[in-house]
Amino acid sequence: MTGGTSGIGLAAAQALMQSRVLLTVGARGAGHVPRPLEAGAVVLPLDLASLESVRAFAAEIHAKGSPIDALVLNAGMQARDLDQRTIDGFETTFAVNHLAHYLLLRLLAPLLADGARVILTTSNLHDPRTNAVAPPYHADPTRLAAGQTLLDDSRRDTMGPLRAYAAAKLCNVMTAMAFAQSELASARHLQVIAFNPGFTPGTGLTRNHHPAMRFVLRLVARAQGIWRRQNTVSGGGSILAGLALGSIASPNGKIYASQVNRELVWPAVSDLARDDAMTRRLWKESAAMVGLPIDEAGLG
Ligand SMILES: NC(=O)c1ccc[n+]([C@@H]2O[C@H](COP(=O)([O-])OP(=O)(O)OC[C@H]3O[C@@H](n4cnc5c(N)ncnc54)[C@H](OP(=O)(O)O)[C@@H]3O)[C@@H](O)[C@H]2O)c1
Repeated sequence: MTGGTSGIGLAAAQALMQSRVLLTVGARGAGHVPRPLEAGAVVLPLDLASLESVRAFAAEIHAKGSPIDALVLNAGMQARDLDQRTIDGFETTFAVNHLAHYLLLRLLAPLLADGARVILTTSNLHDPRTNAVAPPYHADPTRLAAGQTLLDDSRRDTMGPLRAYAAAKLCNVMTAMAFAQSELASARHLQVIAFNPGFTPGTGLTRNHHPAMRFVLRLVARAQGIWRRQNTVSGGGSILAGLALGSIASPNGKIYASQVNRELVWPAVSDLARDDAMTRRLWKESAAMVGLPIDEAGLG
């Protein structure tokens, strides 16, 4: 599991530990590991802002050699601006939310057990229908990796950091869709799900933003809370744990699990996410960025 050290992921990890599963969590730095995890999970170093760290984490899992029953790719972040770059030179929000998870999925796929669950945590912000503030315009990996969130470069994107996040979450949905259609997924009867916990105050997701931006986001959250039932950290965590355990299963192979008013529903993904040509391009160009072959077999 990634992103098990805070917020929704930590709540899910605690629920998973109560179910007595063998849980391995990737965490950046020993100082980041909350006490409950130290007691009940195997914690391995993982910094998703470094592809080398992702490879080292995957190598440790391979060295253990055990089959994986559930792969939970839940970590997420929002960068303060579009100028942040990872050590590999990619825009940070794109690299951490999408590229690192793409690489991890590709590296760990051979270990997935028959009937395993693969869950990528996305957001309803991936869909322009449910994101009026900063909807994604495209999932072009080359442009996103360069921090280009608009369709052309003639102006600066004033909503850049939020749009980059929405676009990275769109990439999560498209990665789930591509992987679900792969030969490996059908041969091993994998259940692949893109999970949206819905707006959930009280997590660390906005921690990198400028204090003024955080203040605005808090006001928006408070205002939205008047007319909508926002999700809770424990509510999101318990659904995420249920998906990982398989106690919550997708009806008729649906991919998008979304919490709306705290209830789990299975809506259609956005029109943008249904662009097959762009999905294949995302898979192919992401492979080139992380130094892997395209893996036509994996794509199906
Ligand atoms: N909160 C919401 O309203 C909301 C809505 C829709 C979707 N989501 C999604 O839900 C997921 C969980 O987010 P959250 O709201 O629970 O936020 P959170 O409390 O900030 O948790 C994010 C997790 O990601 C980890 N992470 C971030 N950058 C990392 C890196 N470079 N390397 C390794 N781990 C890293 C964090 O680790 P550290 O503990 O080391 O920081 C933490 O465990 C994310 O995918 C987010 O996009 C959240």
